[in-house]
Amino acid sequence: MKIFLDTANLKSIKKFNDMGLLDGITTNPSLLSKEGGNPKDAMQEIAKIIKGDVSLEVVATEYSEMLDEGRRLRQYGENVVVKVPMTPDGLRACKTLSSEGIPVNVTLIFSANQALLAAKSGAKYVSPFIGRLDDIGQNGMALIEEIQEIFLNYEFTTQILVASIRHPIHVVDAAKIGADVVTLPPAVLDKMLLHPLTRIGLENFLADWDKLRSGNPDMKI
Ligand code: G3P
Repeated sequence: MKIFLDTANLKSIKKFNDMGLLDGITTNPSLLSKEGGNPKDAMQEIAKIIKGDVSLEVVATEYSEMLDEGRRLRQYGENVVVKVPMTPDGLRACKTLSSEGIPVNVTLIFSANQALLAAKSGAKYVSPFIGRLDDIGQNGMALIEEIQEIFLNYEFTTQILVASIRHPIHVVDAAKIGADVVTLPPAVLDKMLLHPLTRIGLENFLADWDKLRSGNPDMKI
């Protein structure tokens, strides 16, 4: 399973990229707005830092304007994936951009039918928002299971990019289903790194080592 970071925060991107954890990045207008500054500079910088796919979202809602924006975004890097909303114009833009060799991520997916239609339009990724479904009392992960079954039935090459992830259990469940990608807020990836027994175990190792070298404080490995 690929791990993308769902952020426009350059510090977090560099931190996790240096650990070798990142296969890509997803951004959206809300995430860019959270960081402030010039969003174009931020998007270009992210596309430079990360080797894998970087999803950059159009803000136009009309087909020909989406195409213009998508083509301009693609000039930020060969790794740029153009993100379009799940609307009729978005799917039309998905088809055109995909046929030009520009990969597309169709976002704001909330049903299996929407994912099916986005795949038919040639999307490289579909982004179901599971946390937002959980928020309104629907089962977000059940949607991932449905989409996975449908894509396997028809051997679609479109990848399921699980978005709106809220906690580490979402990640484990998505991996068990076999989703292609999870896109994680930095806080969720931070939590995945930690376990109290790891911290306690390390404290014990270091305390025992201190005892061992007590007679010889200059001892080094
Ligand atoms: O990529 C955006 C998606 O992950 C949204 O997350 O937390 O705003 O529902 P959230």
